[in-house]
Amino acid sequence: MTKEKKEAFASHKKLEKNVTLLGAATFVTVAIGGIVEIAPLFWIDNTIEEVEGMRPYSPLELAGRDIYIREGCYTCHSQMIRPFRDEVERYGHYSLAAESMYDHPFQWGSKRTGPDLARVGGRYSDEWHVQHLKDPQSVVPESIMPSYSFLADTELDIADPAANLAALRMIGVPYTDADIENAGNDLIAQADPEADQGDLAERYPKTQIRDFDGDPSRVTEMDALIAYMQMLGTLVDVNSAAAQQELAEETGR
Ligand code: HEC
Repeated sequence: MTKEKKEAFASHKKLEKNVTLLGAATFVTVAIGGIVEIAPLFWIDNTIEEVEGMRPYSPLELAGRDIYIREGCYTCHSQMIRPFRDEVERYGHYSLAAESMYDHPFQWGSKRTGPDLARVGGRYSDEWHVQHLKDPQSVVPESIMPSYSFLADTELDIADPAANLAALRMIGVPYTDADIENAGNDLIAQADPEADQGDLAERYPKTQIRDFDGDPSRVTEMDALIAYMQMLGTLVDVNSAAAQQELAEETGR
């Protein structure tokens, strides 16, 4: 053994035999690792790559999402298609991180009693959803999903739609002043083609404006939930967005 090696050995022996010294050295080593991992997060705005087409939920979709959470739909349904062949063939293109960037809380889920719903938008007609939510077994005889028929009889009652949007803006969802100002009108107008929509369609591109529950005389919780179901996975042109992301990763930009 060379002299240098012997010296190195001796000093490491000292470190290993002294608990305090070993503890202090471990702390320093872990702290360096921590700084390298965590510090950059303070200087970047966003860890999610943005994709074209993603926008915040319209007030009616947001109300539908709140009903979805209130009713515990997430206990049986996930909203995250994983990049595995069986999932992609069944549900469509795997989910992109940006597609749930405005979800507070996210609806990824770890258990599926029913199918994943991340791309259920447009897969069925509104009438199918109404029928399915009222009496799931009437359209899928072997279904174990419970009935939610009361949603069709419950008028949508949101105490303060503008406050909901304002609260989400505080945690980073980019609602504009006009979005917040018009929230109350937008909420009702989206489910009533006869109403004055204002610039709802410009502020929320790809919003679907129609009566969803088959009862044009009023706006029900069923309207809101189906508006939410029908927009899931429809905002982003996933194939071009995913291709763009891959290209950006390859070229390092
Ligand atoms: C007890 C578990 C359970 C709960 C709670 C539940 N579902 Fe389901 N859901 C299922 C099962 C199982 C299926 C598959 C059979 C069927 O289509 O009914 C299903 C199917 C669906 C489908 C059709 C999906 C597809 O791709 O075919 C939609 C949409 C849906 N559920 C929405 C909802 C909504 C909205 C709620 C909450 C109001 C909800 N579910 C609550 C179990 C559940």
